[in-house]
Amino acid sequence: MPGTGIAVVGATGGCGTTTMAAAITAWGGAGICRVLGLDGHGGGPHTLWGVRVERGVDHLDAVRAEVDAGHVQHIAHKGMAEWDLVAGPGSAMTYAGWGGDLAPRLVAAMVPQGPWVADLGRGDHQLAECVVKHASGVVVMTPCSLDGAEACRHLLPHISAPRVLVAAVARPGEHHVSRRAIRRLVPGHTVMEVPWDRRGVGRLASGATGRRGLQSCVGQIMQALATDG
Ligand SMILES: Nc1ncnc2c1ncn2[C@@H]1O[C@H](COP(=O)(O)OP(=O)(O)O)[C@@H](O)[C@H]1O
Ligand SMILES: [Mg+2]
Repeated sequence: MPGTGIAVVGATGGCGTTTMAAAITAWGGAGICRVLGLDGHGGGPHTLWGVRVERGVDHLDAVRAEVDAGHVQHIAHKGMAEWDLVAGPGSAMTYAGWGGDLAPRLVAAMVPQGPWVADLGRGDHQLAECVVKHASGVVVMTPCSLDGAEACRHLLPHISAPRVLVAAVARPGEHHVSRRAIRRLVPGHTVMEVPWDRRGVGRLASGATGRRGLQSCVGQIMQALATDG
């Protein structure tokens, strides 16, 4: 899928944003070659995959004004398979330095020719806004609950991309509402249900893929992003 760039944003914390970004990468169908771990609040695909991050976005401070794709390549880590993993600044505070005109410059350098996926966490920094502008599709992760739907309603007006899809996760121990209810509460968007699949997440962490549960759902999500108008 040339030109594919998928941004994953969480309407709330802890609702599987990192997991979804990793699952899209591992699914393989999109031919992702770069993974951007840009949640300044911690976690990220590198944590899931146990990739030791020695260089991150804040290591580009010295070349801020003229950062280019070559500089980004220098801080990219090889992921578990063939993809590059670019890690964001070490803390949410250091994102502030990448605001203004520097954010679009950095994002243009991070987004390569080939397909990419970005874990933006809650998306609450300017770098995330810029990544979303480059995305062909956005997956908004949300708990499959009334609170989740409410959080989505706040977030969605801030996101403009050719295709935006809501993925609702029914976490155990939470009061769930049906997918149909989420559709009613978040009108105008495709809503997909993400299965709670511990085994699928375990497979992701070990680099393996599967065909059922989470992986099958990711295939459907990518299909919907490719076809929705
Ligand atoms: N679909 C899922 N099935 C089972 N466990 C999941 C699923 N999505 C997320 N998790 C688990 O929930 C926790 C939070 O997920 P994570 O992707 O880190 O959320 P976020 O990035 O939104 O904070 C992790 O322990 C993760 O393994
Ligand atoms: Mg995360």
